[in-house]
Amino acid sequence: MTEKNNKIPFEEDNYTHNINRSNERKLDRRGFMKTLVGAAGVFAVSSLPWGAMAAKELMGLGEKEYPRKKIASLDSVAVGDAVEFAFPGEHDSAIMIRLSEKKFVAYQNACTHLRCPVFWNKEENDLLCPCHHGKFDVETGAPTAGPPRRPLPEIFVKVDKGAVYATGVKRYEA
Ligand code: FES
Repeated sequence: MTEKNNKIPFEEDNYTHNINRSNERKLDRRGFMKTLVGAAGVFAVSSLPWGAMAAKELMGLGEKEYPRKKIASLDSVAVGDAVEFAFPGEHDSAIMIRLSEKKFVAYQNACTHLRCPVFWNKEENDLLCPCHHGKFDVETGAPTAGPPRRPLPEIFVKVDKGAVYATGVKRYEA
């Protein structure tokens, strides 16, 4: 008959093992705290410029800059004509009008009343929203008739090497 041995073998070894383990844990905790403090410091420093930028953004003081995007080549738009495009996102519909040989204006064309698309009305020389007969000044984007009270957001354009590019969106005070 075999006798059951319930004794823990190598008790000392077991004891030592526990000490090591708890020390390891302590070291781990300390190491973790150090890492945490370090990470918090890095975050605080690295977030400073972002915080300033976010504040500027929230207060509407900054102009929105985006990677420039080609709207059209110069020879594809006659004076007095308009082109529709999207900027800055693919769902942000916009319109550019060529007012003269060298003058281009562009706006996001969701009406500032209830977001119907605004069209270039060449005959009347203004931007027209057909939903409630809203009108906007083509030179400035300011509302001139109907329910809209806010201007159309202007898109900055730049002519470069035979093409017109969108470069940013003008911010308006709320
Ligand atoms: S949505 Fe443009 S005038 Fe109402």
